Amino acid sequence: MKKSASLLFCLLFISVGVFAQKFPDIAKTPQMGWNTWNKFAGNINEKLIRETADRMVQSGLADAGYVYLNIDDCWQGKRDSLGFITADKNKFPSGMKALADYVHSRGLKFGIYSDAGRKTCACFPGSSGHEFQDAITYAHWGVDYLKYDWCYTSDLNPRGSYLLMRDALYMAGRPILFSICEWGGSEPWLWAGKVGHSWRTTGDICASFDKDIDHGNWKTLSVMSILDKQDTLRKYAGPGHWNDPDMLEVGNGMSVNEDRAHFTMWCMLAAPLILGNDLTNISDATLKIITNKDVIAIDQDTLGVQGLKYKAGDGVEYWFKPLAGGDWAFAILNRNSGPAECRVDWRDFIFTDNLSGCSTAFDKIVYRYDNLWYKQVSGNTKSVLKVTVPAHDVAVYRLTPVSD
Ligand code: GLA
Repeated sequence: MKKSASLLFCLLFISVGVFAQKFPDIAKTPQMGWNTWNKFAGNINEKLIRETADRMVQSGLADAGYVYLNIDDCWQGKRDSLGFITADKNKFPSGMKALADYVHSRGLKFGIYSDAGRKTCACFPGSSGHEFQDAITYAHWGVDYLKYDWCYTSDLNPRGSYLLMRDALYMAGRPILFSICEWGGSEPWLWAGKVGHSWRTTGDICASFDKDIDHGNWKTLSVMSILDKQDTLRKYAGPGHWNDPDMLEVGNGMSVNEDRAHFTMWCMLAAPLILGNDLTNISDATLKIITNKDVIAIDQDTLGVQGLKYKAGDGVEYWFKPLAGGDWAFAILNRNSGPAECRVDWRDFIFTDNLSGCSTAFDKIVYRYDNLWYKQVSGNTKSVLKVTVPAHDVAVYRLTPVSD
């Protein structure tokens, strides 16, 4: 008996050691969905999730690619006498399995949240010491996505903790997208490619264009602060493993121009597009931004190369993102508080991107371009492009070669 038990243990150990990995074939393009945290924080319940699932389908968001419906922190109740996690019975009286079933019945995928430490950031039970139990519970509920946070982890090693949960998820058998939320402290881009499908690169975002918000002993970061931290990380991202500059704040209080700039730049970064606004009360302007299929196509491009900032000056930045089939996305970001008159002489933008090997070759290739927010504005790179970009806004184009 003793012998067969140790044989079983050895086999399990060997199979975990040899075969444990992150689930392949997930997030080949950056994941898209919705999450409770940015708008609702702890004020969540099953009615909100069901209504949001309905809205994701009715409003065309699901068709535009937003398929993950993710519950963030504050869903947890207590652990039961055997240590299994339960959902808060007041907020989720039908339980998580029934909720996941409902979300799946709408053609969507279901996501949940936990933390590598003893407690989550909002002080609910974390997964430390319960990783395999939690992974089995999530698989049983029908979870498709786990965001795994980093609060209350003072004595833990980040890579080790995330590897442990990765392996637990894999052993539980249900393919689950593993979203690492370690805020960038241990430079997860250096180790997380084989561990998760995305990793947060910074602390938390707030609905502010360029002013961080001070909360005393911590800060939430503006859209521009976060953007400024992404450019050097582009070489670590690619299909199945993305830099995550945090969830979207579109529709949460910035101006329409700022929302448009935020959304566009996240697409230029090949960032996960996780909405964080109230879908039961959404303006037409917000819906128009988050369902622009041409801009989403930049994010979801199959080449999977994060964009680069090629040139900047006087508050105006020029970004390029190579796309599959020889196309380029080109964005002009105006960070100033007044409009910027921009004159783009394409000869100033001839370069080869060392990461992808793609060249703009504006001296040899003529591209046709379309302005992706104002479709009536098209042209080609034979002549100079003149455009006025409003304050805190962008102009973004897709360039397609028309001749050599
Ligand atoms: C951390 C994460 C946030 C959110 C909260 C929940 O701050 O970075 O995205 O999940 O915890 O408590």
